[in-house]
Amino acid sequence: MTKDTRLQEALTAAHCEPPRPFPHDFILGAAAAAFQIEGAANEGGRGPSIWDTFARVPGAVVGGDTGDIACDHYHRYKDDVALMRKLGLDSYRFSVSWARVCPDGVSINKEGLDFYKRLVDELINSDIIPWLTLYHWDLPQRLQDGGGWAARDTAQRFFDYSMTVHEALGDRVHVWTTLNEPWCASFLSYTAGEHAPGHFSLAEGMLASHHLLLGHGWVIQELRRQDPAYDVGLTLNMTIAQPLEPDSPGDQKAAQLVDGQINRWFLDPLFRGHYPSDILQAFADVDPTAVDTFRAAVLPGDLDVISTPIDTLGINYYKGDVVTAATQPPAQLRERGIVDLGLLPSGGAPTTRATQSPMPASHGFTWPDSRFPRTDQNWDVDPAALKALLLRVHEEYTGPAETAIYVTENGAAYDDEVTYTATGPKVHDPQRDAYIQLHLGAVLDAIDEGADVRGYFYWSLLDNFEWAWGYGKRFGIIYVDYETQERIIKDSGLAYSRITRERTLAV
Ligand code: NOJ
Repeated sequence: MTKDTRLQEALTAAHCEPPRPFPHDFILGAAAAAFQIEGAANEGGRGPSIWDTFARVPGAVVGGDTGDIACDHYHRYKDDVALMRKLGLDSYRFSVSWARVCPDGVSINKEGLDFYKRLVDELINSDIIPWLTLYHWDLPQRLQDGGGWAARDTAQRFFDYSMTVHEALGDRVHVWTTLNEPWCASFLSYTAGEHAPGHFSLAEGMLASHHLLLGHGWVIQELRRQDPAYDVGLTLNMTIAQPLEPDSPGDQKAAQLVDGQINRWFLDPLFRGHYPSDILQAFADVDPTAVDTFRAAVLPGDLDVISTPIDTLGINYYKGDVVTAATQPPAQLRERGIVDLGLLPSGGAPTTRATQSPMPASHGFTWPDSRFPRTDQNWDVDPAALKALLLRVHEEYTGPAETAIYVTENGAAYDDEVTYTATGPKVHDPQRDAYIQLHLGAVLDAIDEGADVRGYFYWSLLDNFEWAWGYGKRFGIIYVDYETQERIIKDSGLAYSRITRERTLAV
């Protein structure tokens, strides 16, 4: 198959001189998450997390991959921080593993906390701002045994764990992100079955989303109380849902439901103190009992907690979604109330499980022969949608609340190959370089038109464990040879380091 060169062509076409400067203080960073890179699953007193369990379910992860070794970052963090420095990163966004800090979800493991103290010190000594995320999906298994995020008690446990982390690191970490992508941690995990713990219940997905947000609100309130100077917030995964046929009422409705279920289900309670009524109604149309259960779980005062103001909203953006109502879902999906809501994200992992789950890739709602180039994960590449998304979120939500936006993830998986040259190993990945530059260009365009966007983190620093896809999908600007743990800065990483140093963009 010939390589799709449309992205590089778009980059050439967008070239501008002189290059555009980034705003003063704009943060250029990279991100990763504990379970995806740390490894050392049975070391330092770490307990099992739901992802350790789920990865062992036959067919749950492509190739049966686990996080046991991953990038061995637990042992190699100093070298990895040295690489960040080489890349000229202003900040590194990482997550703390709850199961490393509280092996059973509750009791405290000092050795686990010490790892993060060493990591943070290394970052600070390297002039890299530590951007800490408290929850990036690796719930201690013991808490899942008690109901996981579908149980209200987990929100209380999350608060306690967060305060433990704060006590250890509060003097040197100033940016606190409570949650990464609660949509994935709730609906993709408890309703679609694609992520741990792999359940298929609409009620559980709804409950999980509420309890995640509740835990978030409690933590934000307490962190604020402890130090009003902290920068506190959370990160959401977002999309721009575009109707395939702009004039088709069916496609418009499908796009509205996708937007509502992925974006507004979280933005509305966070910024407006209520869940979106059209999505509640859509859920009730297919599973009224789930909605009754959910309504009973939302206690008086919860939404006041959830809508506590935040300083920063992180947006993770990878692709837009072109939505059509035309897909005929199997009855199994209709029963679970998913397809009727247009809830199928494109590009589900090709696991055996995915074909049994309510969100198989073959029933995605995106149009197969799209106008857009696609990554190796079959995700549309649509930088213009990022600009539209940033402007929309700023205008409708974060602007009025005086909340800053950061793009906390943006990136692409490509089938990278190492070539050995006289000067050493190289990974030539022009598509990723074009992807990064075009999306950074979209961020600058959005800023020019008024969006308050203050930073960008490439996902990911290193190739890593891509959840249900395993290690086969490489997102890094640094290549990882999983046999030897050798790291090779890809050409896209070298290009990104020029941008971080020159602080300009020729797009
Ligand atoms: C979002 C998640 O936060 C991250 O863990 C994941 O690897 C990337 N998207 C790519 O899918």
